[in-house]
Amino acid sequence: MSEANLEQTLETLRTGALHGVRAAQTLEALEAIRVDVLGRKGSLAQISKEMGKLAPADRARVGKLLNLAKQTVEQALESRKAEFELAALNTRLNAEWVDLTLPSTAPRPGSLHPVTIVQKEIEDLFISMGFTVLSGPEVETEFNNFDALNIPPDHPARDMQDTFWLEGGHLLRTHTSPVQVRGMLKFGPPLRMIAPGRVFRNEEVDPSHEHTFYQLEGMMVDREVSVANLTYFMKTLLEGIFHRDVTVRLRPGYFPFVEPGFELDIQCLLCGGKGCPVCKQSGWVELLPCGLVHPNVLRFGGIDPEKWNGFAFGLGLTRLAMMRFGIDDIRLLQGGDLRFLRQF
Ligand code: DAH
Repeated sequence: MSEANLEQTLETLRTGALHGVRAAQTLEALEAIRVDVLGRKGSLAQISKEMGKLAPADRARVGKLLNLAKQTVEQALESRKAEFELAALNTRLNAEWVDLTLPSTAPRPGSLHPVTIVQKEIEDLFISMGFTVLSGPEVETEFNNFDALNIPPDHPARDMQDTFWLEGGHLLRTHTSPVQVRGMLKFGPPLRMIAPGRVFRNEEVDPSHEHTFYQLEGMMVDREVSVANLTYFMKTLLEGIFHRDVTVRLRPGYFPFVEPGFELDIQCLLCGGKGCPVCKQSGWVELLPCGLVHPNVLRFGGIDPEKWNGFAFGLGLTRLAMMRFGIDDIRLLQGGDLRFLRQF
């Protein structure tokens, strides 16, 4: 081939290769062009062989052109390859796109039930005053639930608490008071105990009545415990719960296991005693039955009433939680509705 022909061939090859590179749609297509043009047996190698037949001066010139063509094609291949890689990266980024501002799907942290919140606060308060926290079984004996609390079988007070009866002298406890008996028998005097827990009544359910609810029992047995002591502890309890000063009053109340027995009222926190719908215009809210422990109850607990006496109280934990958080339907507390529970 003559020098001019070689040059012509070189130029055709170069433009053809560049055109091919631009048109290539895959890495494989690029590789095929590379092998065809730049490979050991490729077109450029072929021309390089032909060059040997040229005169030395022409050879140098065509050699330069050949190197230039080689470089141009190499560069075109490289930059087309980079384009492919960028496109692949973009496709991947689009597919694997992550929105870091989305809320996570990790499990939500749980929260305490409103009754549990109030219960824990009262426990802390009483623990700080030397009381022990006890628990008793929800399935109780008829004896602990009634007889040992000075409520004999034929006593009308048994009818005040509609009971779920079980077989063999057992029942679902109607109050936490039987834990008084267990506490006295287990620890003896002097004794300071509270007993929070679930209780059951065979009752029609409505916004303010449940068959299942929570109470918190308290008992202190010591020498010469007085109504003044009882009032002091009850005031401390209520101020701890409501986080402010409270005014209390005692009214006589009948419970077979205390003598004297009281209904402790708290001056209405909403109206300050002036009268409002919450206190039914009376200025007072009934909150806490209590009294001095009946001697018979101490005896059933193995304690000599000549040497020891004490006070006891039964706090409606569920009702208290409702007051504290402004819950107007008792059924919400047992309903298991997470939309309700997540508010606490
Ligand atoms: N156990 C009583 C009830 O459920 C509440 C009660 C009243 C408990 C007076 C007491 C008390 O300890 O002294 O109705």
